[in-house]
Amino acid sequence: MDFFDAVTARRSVRQFKADAVGRNVLEKIIAAGIEAPSGCNLQLRQYVIVDDAAVMDQLRPLSGAIDGAPAAIVLLVDPQRSKFGDEFWVQDASAAMENMLLAAVALGYAACWVEGALRRCEDQLRAILNVPANLRVWSLMPVGKPAQHPPRPVKSLFGDVVHYNGFGKRL
Ligand SMILES: Cc1cc2nc3c(=O)[nH]c(=O)nc-3n(C[C@H](O)[C@H](O)[C@H](O)COP(=O)(O)O)c2cc1C
Repeated sequence: MDFFDAVTARRSVRQFKADAVGRNVLEKIIAAGIEAPSGCNLQLRQYVIVDDAAVMDQLRPLSGAIDGAPAAIVLLVDPQRSKFGDEFWVQDASAAMENMLLAAVALGYAACWVEGALRRCEDQLRAILNVPANLRVWSLMPVGKPAQHPPRPVKSLFGDVVHYNGFGKRL
């Protein structure tokens, strides 16, 4: 798929068909995450593939966005190894997440960036996935064939947010 087609086709999908997702697909998505940029190339990220139905069943109650998904990728980050205080590890995680979302679309799958919903259940996820205490369970993405096709939400108008050679300078 053309890169710009993947960018525009990507939507946050929260309803999925039951069809299993091949481990090769999940691994290819993660390979795209590993390629993402990272401050000082520290790569503070770890990835947990969840494709066992029994484990997925434990994750489902934590967010409506993963409820019907056949598989998920959970993104862990190690903030303690970050050299830039409180900020860069978040960007590192985010860069990997966006790469993975686009990879899923390019491979014909749908996904959703689930992060806000995790802040209230991080300890539960940590216990379910046996995550060591030094790592944050920062975000996850359900992966599957889409059972919905959400419309494109309102996005910024190009002319409202783009400036040329200085703020406020329009063409
Ligand atoms: C940092 C971040 C956290 C998000 N957390 C959640 C979440 O917890 N649950 C959810 O359903 N969607 C979550 N989303 C997805 C957004 O709701 C979605 O990207 C936004 O509504 C725009 O829709 P689009 O992705 O289809 O363009 C999150 C997105 C980002 C970037």
